[in-house]
Amino acid sequence: MIAIDVKNLTKKFDQFVAVDDISFQVEKGGIFAFLGPNGAGKSTVIKMMTTILYPTDGSIFINNYNIHNEKSEVRKSIGVIFQDHTLDDELTAYENLYYHSALYKIPERIRREKIDDMLHYVGLLDRKNDLVRTFSGGMKRRIEIARGLLHSPTILFLDEPTLGLDVQTRAFLWNYIKKINEEQGITIFFTTHNMEEVENIATKIAIIDKGRILSQGTSKEIKKATKTKTLENAFLTLTGYGIREQSADK
Ligand SMILES: Nc1ncnc2c1ncn2[C@@H]1O[C@H](COP(=O)(O)OP(=O)(O)O)[C@@H](O)[C@H]1O
Ligand SMILES: [Mg+2]
Repeated sequence: MIAIDVKNLTKKFDQFVAVDDISFQVEKGGIFAFLGPNGAGKSTVIKMMTTILYPTDGSIFINNYNIHNEKSEVRKSIGVIFQDHTLDDELTAYENLYYHSALYKIPERIRREKIDDMLHYVGLLDRKNDLVRTFSGGMKRRIEIARGLLHSPTILFLDEPTLGLDVQTRAFLWNYIKKINEEQGITIFFTTHNMEEVENIATKIAIIDKGRILSQGTSKEIKKATKTKTLENAFLTLTGYGIREQSADK
C-alpha cells in the first residue's frame, strides 16, 4: 500500500524553480527521509504535501486523497510538525492541545483524556498547566509532536524536527517516533541534513538538492549507485562540496 504518491511535482516562485519535477512514493508504515542541504526545497515539498502551498505542476496523493480537490480529507489524515515552532507561547501546554482538538473536532467527551494521554506519552503530563513560554526548545518539540498526533493521523510529517536540540532530546524524539511507527504503523516522512539520523531511522531515503531528487532508495542502494562507502560521501558526491549559506529566515 502506498501512503504518499508524488509525481512530477514542480513549484515555481515567480521564475525561480524551487522544486523541479520530482517523483517518489512512500509505502504505508515506512520511514522516508528527505536529505538535503539548506535551500534544497525540502520544506517546500512538505508544504505542498500538507496542503499549505499549492503546486505549480504535478500530482500528490496522500492516503489516496488528491491534494487538489480533497484537501480536508488530506488534512484530517495527517499530522505535521513544521520547521519553525508554531505553539502559542502565552497558552499552557494543555491549552495549545485543546485548541487543536477543537479545530479537529475531536469529540468533547474524549478531549481531556486524549490530551492527557498524549502529554503522558511525550513525558510532559506534569507540566500540562505551565505556559509554553517557560519550556525549553526540546519540550516545545515534544508538545508539537503530541499535538501532531492528537487527531490520530496515519502519516506524520516532520520538517527538520531535531534542529537545535541537544543529544538527549534528539534520542528521546527518535525513540518515540520509532515506537509510534512500530506500534501504531504510522507512516513517517521527515527532512534533515543529519546523516546519522537518516542512517539510523529511515527505511528509504531521497537525496534532494536544488529542487531535484539526485538519488533515492535504501542507504545501501544509494551507496552502491554512487560507488561510495558512507552516506556522507554519497551525499557529497551527489551535491558537491560547495558551502551552502543559511538564509536569514530559515
Ligand atoms: N515563499 C517563497 N518565495 C520565494 N522563494 C522561496 C519561498 N519559499 C522558499 N523559497 C526558496 O525556495 C528554495 C527552497 O526553499 P526550502 O524549501 O525552504 O528549502 P529547504 O527546506 O530545503 O532548506 C530556497 O531557495 C528558498 O529561498
Ligand atoms: Mg526547510
